[in-house]
Amino acid sequence: MSNRQFKLKQRPSGMVKREDFEFTQGPMPEPGPGEVLVKVLYLSLDPAMRGWMNEGKSYVPPVGIGEVMRAGGAGRVIKSNDPKFAPGDHVIGLPGVQEYAAVAGKALTKVDPKLAPLPVYLGTLGMPGMTAYFGLLEVGEFKPGDVVVVSGAAGAVGQVVGQVAKIKGAGKVVGIAGGPDKCKWCVEQLGYDACIDYKSEDVKKALKQHCPKGVDLYFDNVGGDILDTVLTQLAMKARIVICGAISQYNNTTPMKGPSNYMSLLVNRATMRGMVVFDYAARYKDAAMEMGGWMAQGKLKSREDVVAGLETFPETLLKLFKGENFGKLVLKVDVSS
Ligand SMILES: NC(=O)c1ccc[n+]([C@@H]2O[C@H](COP(=O)([O-])OP(=O)(O)OC[C@H]3O[C@@H](n4cnc5c(N)ncnc54)[C@H](OP(=O)(O)O)[C@@H]3O)[C@@H](O)[C@H]2O)c1
Repeated sequence: MSNRQFKLKQRPSGMVKREDFEFTQGPMPEPGPGEVLVKVLYLSLDPAMRGWMNEGKSYVPPVGIGEVMRAGGAGRVIKSNDPKFAPGDHVIGLPGVQEYAAVAGKALTKVDPKLAPLPVYLGTLGMPGMTAYFGLLEVGEFKPGDVVVVSGAAGAVGQVVGQVAKIKGAGKVVGIAGGPDKCKWCVEQLGYDACIDYKSEDVKKALKQHCPKGVDLYFDNVGGDILDTVLTQLAMKARIVICGAISQYNNTTPMKGPSNYMSLLVNRATMRGMVVFDYAARYKDAAMEMGGWMAQGKLKSREDVVAGLETFPETLLKLFKGENFGKLVLKVDVSS
């Protein structure tokens, strides 16, 4: 049996292209001591993967040229050299863009597909959901009554930020998303008070209308012009969570920083970056709370599942073109 894999062939310039990868057939991996052989069923496609392809210092080392592309995923245990896992168990971890992975048992988490479908463990109950939860409540120092604005509002992280803010008693939650369908869904299905379509509306004017007393907490998923615009509408002591800057990830010129940052001084506001892995020790507690909300129907979760490992480069691009609706997941095996 062979193992189809996507390896990084070259460091992309601008948008990722199929030619940046090599699609190869490798031998079936054999798990070493303490390792587990996993059949990868779903891969999590994340904006961060674009950054992992770049050279240079970041919060994790870059993927090496010739290495299997790093990716989160969910799968089934085939063979185990770790007593904590048995064949048939379902797990999540970082298997990479391939069909089979030998992964250290200590880097895997067991999940129960009877409690939630596997793609949900890569989204709302996984890394993006944890980012939303800790980003909003800890980094953003959320307080009941806050006027919260979230960009990328219909995405994997954004959809959870808006709903958790409502559950925890926000004064108002305003989303910013691309297109009427995403905005309609945020308001009608997720309970946002309003959603601004940045592709067709004047964001500054709309923010003034929806947040007349200013924004207390801005959860930034996109950076660029939207961050700059929200900076002009801050309330006193506002908090900005720098979660990501997807509008800038494929730049061939240097990233664009905010020019309106003096608004932080005027409003005694703070802007703080976050990396979700810093909260890993507390994921379990957050997942318990969020799982409870899901069971009660208070927290909804949308996944956008595309089938076929071979589509990986084009499917990843959906994130940067705004074509995903909810958490983007790649189903590895089309036939299963
Ligand atoms: N700091 C951390 O630990 C951490 C962890 C996870 C994720 N993140 C970051 O969180 C952000 C959201 O990630 P996600 O997984 O939830 O992705 P996502 O929101 O599910 O998908 C990406 C979305 O970004 C929007 N987008 C793409 N290009 C854009 C542009 N030029 N301007 C404005 N919006 C654009 C699109 O939505 P529209 O159609 O609405 O434009 C697209 O659907 C990313 O920046 C990611 O890097 C950070």
